[in-house]
Amino acid sequence: MIYQGNAITVARNGDDVAMLTFDLKDESINKLSSAVMAELDEAVQAIRAQSGLKGLVIGSAKEVFIVGADITEFHGIFEKGEAFLVEMNLKVHEIFNAIEDLPFPTVTAINGLALGGGCEVTLATDFRVMGEAAKIGLPETKLGILPGWGGCVRLPRLIGADNAVEWIAGGSENRADAALKVGVVDAVVPAEQLEAAALDILARANAGELDYQARRAEKTGPLKLNAIEQMMAFETAKGYVAGKAGPHYPAPIEAIKVIQKGAGEERARAQAIEAKAFAKLALTEVCYNLVGLFLNDQVVKKKAGKYEKQARAVKQTAVLGAGIMGGGIAYQSASRGTPILMKDIKEEAVELGLKESRKLFAKQVERGKLTTEQMAEKLTHIRPTLSYGDFGHVDLVVEAVVENPKVKDAVLSEVEGLVGEDTILTSNTSTISITRLAQNLKRPENFCGMHFFNPVHRMPLVEVIRGEKTGDAAVAATVAYARAMGKTPIVVNDCPGFLVNRVLFPYFGGFSLLVEQGADFQRVDKVMEKFGWPMGPAYLLDVVGMDTAVHANEVMAEGFPDRMARDAKTAIQVMFENERLGQKNAKGFYAYEEDRKGKPKKVSDEAAQALVEQVVTAHKEFSDDDIIARMMVPLCLETVRCLEDDIVATPAEADMALIYGIGFPPFRGGALRYIDAMGVAEFVRLADGLAEELGPLYAPTDRLRRMAEAGERFYSTQAQG
Ligand SMILES: NC(=O)c1ccc[n+]([C@@H]2O[C@H](COP(=O)([O-])OP(=O)(O)OC[C@H]3O[C@@H](n4cnc5c(N)ncnc54)[C@H](O)[C@@H]3O)[C@@H](O)[C@H]2O)c1
Repeated sequence: MIYQGNAITVARNGDDVAMLTFDLKDESINKLSSAVMAELDEAVQAIRAQSGLKGLVIGSAKEVFIVGADITEFHGIFEKGEAFLVEMNLKVHEIFNAIEDLPFPTVTAINGLALGGGCEVTLATDFRVMGEAAKIGLPETKLGILPGWGGCVRLPRLIGADNAVEWIAGGSENRADAALKVGVVDAVVPAEQLEAAALDILARANAGELDYQARRAEKTGPLKLNAIEQMMAFETAKGYVAGKAGPHYPAPIEAIKVIQKGAGEERARAQAIEAKAFAKLALTEVCYNLVGLFLNDQVVKKKAGKYEKQARAVKQTAVLGAGIMGGGIAYQSASRGTPILMKDIKEEAVELGLKESRKLFAKQVERGKLTTEQMAEKLTHIRPTLSYGDFGHVDLVVEAVVENPKVKDAVLSEVEGLVGEDTILTSNTSTISITRLAQNLKRPENFCGMHFFNPVHRMPLVEVIRGEKTGDAAVAATVAYARAMGKTPIVVNDCPGFLVNRVLFPYFGGFSLLVEQGADFQRVDKVMEKFGWPMGPAYLLDVVGMDTAVHANEVMAEGFPDRMARDAKTAIQVMFENERLGQKNAKGFYAYEEDRKGKPKKVSDEAAQALVEQVVTAHKEFSDDDIIARMMVPLCLETVRCLEDDIVATPAEADMALIYGIGFPPFRGGALRYIDAMGVAEFVRLADGLAEELGPLYAPTDRLRRMAEAGERFYSTQAQG
C-alpha cells in the first residue's frame, strides 16, 4: 500500500503500476471536498516518493467517477475572499501539475460521471479511457464560475479552442461517444474492461508506441493557433455565447476570455490567469445565487426523497378531465412510464386530449429523442375512456375537471365510491381550498392537492397541498408520482392560492397599481424582462388568461381582504370585461398574430392601450428602479408571509417553488435571497416607504422588522461582490 486515506487509496499492482482509487467513506459518490484535496496532495507526494513505478492509473470504486468539487463548501470558502481563492486554486494546480509531471505515463479510467473538478483530474493525466455509460463535462459556468482547476487551460490544448469553448461555455454533460469524437478521451470500452484497457495504454506508452511526452508538451505549452484562428475561435464564440447566455450570466463569456488570454502562455502563466478570473467570478452575486440554487435544489430533492421512501407504489393512475391540464398530465405520465386512464364526459374532449399527446410525442420523434416504435408504445400507456370501468385498480387519481367547486365535489365523491380503500385522490384545482374539497369525502386522509402548471410537460413544479385532514400516505404517494413524472414536487399547506399563486397575485396587484398611476404597461414588461423575468407581467397575464386571473384574484381578495381586496377597477378587469382574455382569444394587453411556425406572436395594440386609460388616475413618472420595487416588494413580502404562516417549510423550498413555478429569475436566487441580497433592513425601509403611499400590500410583517433589527437573514452565508 502506497497511501491510505478516507477517500483515496494508492496501491502498487504486480506490474509496478500505482493504482489510485477514489472511494469516499460513508458516501455514495466521490466529490472533491477540501479534505479530499488534502488527501490527493498527500497521495501524489507518496507516489512521487516511490521508486521503480512504471505508471499511474486513477480510478473510482464507486458508480460515479467524481461528481466534482463539494458544492456545499462553496459559500463558506468563497466568503474568504479573492486572495484566498487565488491561493487555493494555485495550490490545486500544484497538485494536478505534480500528477502531470510524474516520471512515467499516467491514465484515468473514467467509469462513471466525471464532472467539473472530476473532469479536471482526468485532464491532468496523459490518457483517458472511458466506460460506455459514463458521462463527462465541465458544468462550472452553470454555477456562475469557470473551471478553475486547469480545465480552461488543458481542455483547449487537448481538443482545440473551438471544441473547448463549446464544452465549457455550454456546461454540458457529454456521453462517451461524443467525448471520444472530439478527443477528450482516447478510448471507450465496456465498463468491465476499463482497468485492462488503462493498463494496456500504460504498457504501450512504456513501449514507446504511444508518445506520452508529446502529449504533455502539447498540454503544457501555448495553444497552437494563429491570429486568424484565434479570432475565429474566440470572437465569433463570444458573440454567439453572449447572445445565448444573456446579460445576467457572465461566466460563459469570462471562461472564453480566460481561454483566449491564456492561449499564448505556458502552463504556469495560463493557470494564474485562470485562478484570478475564477476568484473574481466566485465573488459575484450571480455565482452566490446560482450556487444557492443548487443547494436549495438538493434540499428540495432530499425532502421529496424522504417522502418517496415511505410511499406506496403508484403503478396505475387516472386523470379526470381531458382538457388542457388533464391532457398534459396524461402525456407526462405516459411519457415517463406510468400508465394512466384519461376520463372525460365528452367524446370530443378525450379525442382532443389524445391528439395533443400525440403531437407532443411526435415532436420528440422529430427531435430524435424517441423512435416511432417507442412513441407507439408510450401512447398505449394512455387509455382514454368515458366510463369508470377500470377505476377499481388505480393507485392514484388526479382530478382536473373544470374549476367549479360543485362539479369538483360531485366528481370527487363519485370517484371515491369507485376506487379502492387505499387509492389516493388528488385535485389539480388552482383556487379551491383542499380542506374544503375534502369535506364531502369519506376518506379525507387519502386526499391532497396536486397542482401542476401550464404547460404541464414544460413546467417543472408540482405543488403538493396538504389539507387539514390529509394523511402522510397521501402526500408521500403524490410526491412519489410527481417525481416519477420527472417533476419537482414541493409540499405546502393549504391556503388561498397555495404558495405560488398566493405570491404571484400580489405581484399582479403591484402591476395594477403601477398602471393606475400612469406607468405604461409595455414599459413595465420591458423593465421586468430586463430584470430577468422570462416575460413581463402584462404578457404573463395574457398567457395565464384574463378570466383565470380575474377569478383567482377574487379568491385571493376574499382570502386576504386587508391587502388584496380593492374597490377600484383594475386594468385586468377592464381587459376581461372587454373580452380581451389574452392569448386564448388572441387579444389581451397585446394582440396576437401567428408567426411562421404557427406560434402566437405578440404585437402592441392601440385598442388595449385605450382601454387601460380608463383606469389611469394619475400620471406619475417612474424610474426603472421604482417599477422594479413596486413589482417585487409585494411578491417578496407575500413569500415572507407564506414562510411565517407555515405554508412552506423552508426558504429553500419557497425560493425553488418560485423559480420552478413562475420562472422567477434563477440568477437572483428567489424572493428570499433577493431580500437577503438587498439586506433585510434596507428591504423593510423600501417597503415602508411604499406602504405609506400604496397601503398594506407593501407593509412589512412584524417578524421581518424584528429580523431587520437583529441583523438576521433568511440564508446564513453572504455574497461578497
Ligand atoms: N389551465 C391552467 O393554466 C391551469 C393551471 C393549473 C391548474 N388548473 C386547473 O386544472 C383544472 C382543469 O383546467 P383546464 O384548464 O384543463 O380546463 P379545461 O376546461 O381545458 O378542461 C376541463 C375538462 O374537464 C372535463 N370535465 C368536466 N366535467 C367532467 C367530469 N364530471 N368528469 C370528467 N371530465 C369532466 C371537460 O369536458 C373538459 O374537457 C381546473 O381545476 C383548473 O383550475 C389549470
